[in-house]
Amino acid sequence: PAIATVIPAAGVGKRMKADKPKQYLPLCGLTVLEQTLHRLKQVPALQQFYLALSPDDPYFPDLPLAADRQIQRVDGGSERANSVLNALIQIDAQQYPWVLVHDAARPVVRVSDIELLIQCCLQNEQGGILATPVRDTMKLATAENTVKQTVDRTTLWHAYTPQLFPTVLLREALQRALAQGVAITDEASAMEWAGWPVQLVQGHSDNIKITQAEDLALATFYLEHSV
Ligand code: C5P
Repeated sequence: PAIATVIPAAGVGKRMKADKPKQYLPLCGLTVLEQTLHRLKQVPALQQFYLALSPDDPYFPDLPLAADRQIQRVDGGSERANSVLNALIQIDAQQYPWVLVHDAARPVVRVSDIELLIQCCLQNEQGGILATPVRDTMKLATAENTVKQTVDRTTLWHAYTPQLFPTVLLREALQRALAQGVAITDEASAMEWAGWPVQLVQGHSDNIKITQAEDLALATFYLEHSV
């Protein structure tokens, strides 16, 4: 079955403290956004891309990607989940029964991890996300930032993107969750809230999200040493 790809890239990147949104900062000779698309485009199953950008984004038209006919620009929303939903509304679910959502800010994702996620989800006919088990000891905090208790880490995972779900189910779950004011920080949280199972597919922890300035140096290292 065909897979549409949604790339939320409408954030302003406040924590980055840079002069432009983080998806347009330079990374190994390209922008972060171009590196991310370069990775996604190496996956043959991904042919159609919906890129959610801020409606007044002045940077995208200057990139060679702007002329790419596989990429459709859609207006982003106030929060990441609104940006994703705006893109989902544009997708013909009969033509693309599955949708893969990947943050523009994760340029180091491995092609082999994306392919593993696709294989697991399509084989089991069940949505899923790339994730890794946590390594550190985990603490639950009180309101005063003291330790309430140590949490059993054997059942804790870091959630990444890409996240892959049936298009219709994700669209409905996001619409309903947003209408009810549920806090949605990734696609899986909407699907969990709606009662659908979500597989954890173990990827690699180099799939970092560019959030702070030092993340660019780390992403550069990973890209230069990439597998
Ligand atoms: O802010 P955060 O790092 O969680 O953003 C994750 C991704 O979601 C980024 O690629 C960002 O551009 C995107 N985003 C969006 N629309 C928003 C906020 C964030 O597409 N309103």
